[in-house]
Order: sequence, then structure tokens, then C-alpha cells
Amino acid sequence: MVNRLKLSSFGHFRPKDLNFGELKHCQTWVFHSFNRVLVIGSLLLLFLVAIGSGYFYNTNSFPQPIVLENAGDNRTNTNFSGECNLFVGNWVPDESYPLYNASECPFAEQGFSCLDNGRKDKEYLKWRWKPRNCEIPRFDVYVILEKLRGKRIVFVGDSLSRTQWESMICILMTGVEDKKSVYEVKGRKITRQIRHLQVRFSSFNFTVEFYRSIFLVQPGSPPKRSPKRIKKALMLDKLDDINKEWIHSDILVFNTGHWWTPTKLFELGWYFQIDGKMKLGMTINGAFNKALTTWHSWIENNINSDRTRVFFRTFEATHWSAGPREKCDVTRQPWSETNGKDKNAFSDMIIDTVKNVAIPVTLLHVTPMGAYRSDAHVGNWSDNPSVPDCSHYCLPGVPDMWNELLFTFLFSEQQYQIH
Ligand SMILES: *[C@@H]1O[C@H](CO)[C@@H](O)[C@H](O)[C@H]1NC(C)=O
Ligand SMILES: *[C@@H]1O[C@H](CO)[C@@H](O)[C@H](O)[C@H]1NC(C)=O
Ligand SMILES: *[C@@H]1O[C@H](CO)[C@@H](O)[C@H](O)[C@H]1NC(C)=O
Ligand SMILES: *[C@@H]1O[C@H](CO)[C@@H](O)[C@H](O)[C@H]1NC(C)=O
Ligand SMILES: *[C@@H]1O[C@H](CO)[C@@H](O)[C@H](O)[C@H]1NC(C)=O
Repeated sequence: MVNRLKLSSFGHFRPKDLNFGELKHCQTWVFHSFNRVLVIGSLLLLFLVAIGSGYFYNTNSFPQPIVLENAGDNRTNTNFSGECNLFVGNWVPDESYPLYNASECPFAEQGFSCLDNGRKDKEYLKWRWKPRNCEIPRFDVYVILEKLRGKRIVFVGDSLSRTQWESMICILMTGVEDKKSVYEVKGRKITRQIRHLQVRFSSFNFTVEFYRSIFLVQPGSPPKRSPKRIKKALMLDKLDDINKEWIHSDILVFNTGHWWTPTKLFELGWYFQIDGKMKLGMTINGAFNKALTTWHSWIENNINSDRTRVFFRTFEATHWSAGPREKCDVTRQPWSETNGKDKNAFSDMIIDTVKNVAIPVTLLHVTPMGAYRSDAHVGNWSDNPSVPDCSHYCLPGVPDMWNELLFTFLFSEQQYQIH
């Protein structure tokens, strides 16, 4: 039972690392006080009783959830045999989605709020990710709000990270009665360039923050007497200079990828630097890998894994159609195949890096699930319809599922174990 959520292909998720709040407390106490076998036996019994009485997600004193309460799916049946890779599966229609209304969430930015920007078809809102051998447990927003009490959640990365940040706030706000009790601490507005945003859930005493760090490593000035075309040096051996602000967090979620393109680097005069020397011939993939190495040692040298749960999200699939000029045709329905978009060189490098980090880092391998969702992009339903967008996803939408996965990794174990 303890090992119920076994992830086959990414071995660094270990249930024993789920020392989060009360669970840790409870486990320590239990295992030190009783005979282990007896305890596991009685937990098993409790588990069976819980299933028998359909009493699975209501084992707390919180009110019933608003979200998902009438979900006509099988997500309470989380009993699965064998192994479950949460990232291998398909999307199934589910009328209980979406999880929130973006027009009622002050933190869903206009640019991602597709319905507000004139999108008429709504099928894209009604899909749920279904892993092949198991279910992502249905979450109870009230339980999660309580579990986050006193915590600091930090998202670091590019605008796709900002989307997940917005999605998380909107999901959590469905459980907050007084919407005014949720606010950006300095009254800052969400913009594309903003470096830091910190939203506080004051009734629950936690914050959800976003740090813009599109490459994770530090840009700087090129050395003197560099060729004129070199405008910026991306220092692959130095993590972004705001990295100190990421350290004291309880949940830390990274991404990077979308800016590592020739158009966004070389064409704008950005080149790579290592150890103070420009590396003009270096490939983007080579540079990306070097940046990950820098991230890897930073994690090991700075993060206290007793406090901080670290996640790394892999590349978020895009759906630009190939050709001399990339086009963005948002479909009405998800693709039935991934058409090769489930594979990505950046994702592969992230997977390899994360595997070798000495402290637990959980992969959010969202590349395959995103690959199907040609229907879920912003397209021309953004705040700037003249620039089509097949990179970002609409809110509500795919990023909500990234958060459901995050909640599963953080909390589902507890729901299996306790009570
Ligand atoms: C629920 O499970 C039943 C039986 O396994 C299946 O026929 C049905 O399609 C499932 N419903 C959903 C929404 O997955
Ligand atoms: C879980 O499923 C397995 C078979 O898939 C079944 O043998 C077992 O009894 C189930 N356990 C519970 C607690 O429902
Ligand atoms: C979302 O909320 C707005 C404002 O309250 C409302 O007009 C709209 O109908 C809602 N949209 C959906 C899809 O429920
Ligand atoms: C809020 O959380 C912080 C950080 O965990 C903690 O130090 C503080 O005591 C909490 N405040 C209240 C009122 O619970
Ligand atoms: C947006 O794209 C859709 C489908 O691609 C098209 O029908 C519509 O006219 C476009 N709207 C604008 C404002 O360009």
C-alpha cells in the first residue's frame, strides 16, 4: 500500500521521500512505537474498510469540494495493480472539467484566457489525462489548502511556468470563500517581463510565487573586444543571480526550454559563455546540457531535501506546423496520435540530469501528454490576435493537469496511508 504509486520509469520518486508535514510526523511516531508488521497490517485493514465504505476522500473535517464533486468518472477507484507511470496514457472526455472559470480568477492573465478572447468551441475544456494503468486521484481543494498552510511554493522558469503558477492559484482559489484574501503582496500586475510575483493566500498563510528565469542560467555582458554581433553572453556555468531567493521554499518547480532556439538566441546576438570565455561554436543542445549541469550542482549544494520538494517539468509540447513559415492551426479536438511530439531532446536531457541528482527531484514529464493537445493552445485567442500562439496553452486547460500531477506527487500518498 505504501508503494501504491510506483512510477516505473523514473526511479527518483520514492514514497519515503514524501515527508510532508504531518505525514512525516505520523510516520516517525508510528514506526518507532509499534511493531512494523502490525502497523502495516492495520493500515491495510483501514484501507480496505475505507474502500468498502466508499469513505476515501472525505476522511477529514473539511467541507465537500466544489471542484470535481460531480465528476462522473472512476477516479475514486485508485486501486491498481502493478506499476503506474503517470505520464503514459491518453486524454479522456470528462464533463466535470474545467476546474475553474478564468474570467472569475484575477490571476488568469488575459493572454491565456481563451474564452474571454473569443474562442467559441468549448470541447477543449473537457479532457482529463488518464494514465494507462491507474488514475490520477481526484483532489479535494479544501484538503490541499490545509496541507499548504505555512508553505512557500515557488515556480521558476519561462512563461510556461507562469501559466502553471496562474493555474495553481486559480484552482486553489475555488476553495477560498473570501477572494480578496488572495493577493499579490506588492500589488504587482502580471506582465511578460516581470521578474517576480508573489501571491499570498492569507487565510491559509502560504504563498505561491513565480520567478522569471527563462534560461535558469545568468545572462551578462560579453567580454571586451568580442565581435560586434555578440550582444549578450549567456553564462552557462552560473545559475541566474536571483537563485538565492529560490532556496527557502517548500515546493520548488523548474522549467526551461522555449527560449533555447536560434531565433531567440543567435539572431538576437546572444551567445554562450563558460568560465569567462565565449563559446561561439557551441550548439544549443550542448549549451542546454551545460546549463542543466550547473543547475544540478546548485541543487545539490543549496537545497535541503528535508524541507524542499523539487520538481522539474519537461518540455511543453508545441504545435507549430512545419513549413517555411510556421503556422498555428489550433484543432477542435486533441490529436489521436502524438505525431512524434512526445519525444524532445531537451526533455531527454532533463530526464538524464534529474536521474543523477543526489537528492530527490521529481520529474513532471509533461511532454507526452501535451503532444496530443493540438486543440489546447492559445492560437489567436490571446490579447494579441495578430500573433498566433501554438506554444502557450489556454487557461483553464493543460497546465491544470500539470498541477493535478503535482498534487498527486505531493499528497496522494497521504490519502492512501492515513485513516
Ligand atoms: C468507469 O469504469 C467503467 C468500468 O470499468 C467503464 O466502463 C467506464 O467507461 C468508466 N468511465 C470513465 C468515465 O472512465
Ligand atoms: C485491487 O485490485 C486487485 C486486482 O486488480 C484485486 O485483486 C484486489 O482485491 C483489489 N483490492 C482492493 C482493496 O479493492
Ligand atoms: C464565467 O464567469 C463569467 C462571469 O461571472 C460568466 O459570465 C461566464 O458565463 C462564466 N463562464 C462559464 C464558462 O461558466
Ligand atoms: C505562517 O507560516 C510561517 C512560515 O511557515 C510561520 O513561521 C508562521 O508562524 C505562520 N503564521 C501563522 C499565523 O500561522
Ligand atoms: C482565429 O483563427 C480561427 C481558426 O484558425 C479563424 O477562424 C479566425 O478567423 C481567427 N480570428 C482572428 C481574429 O484572426
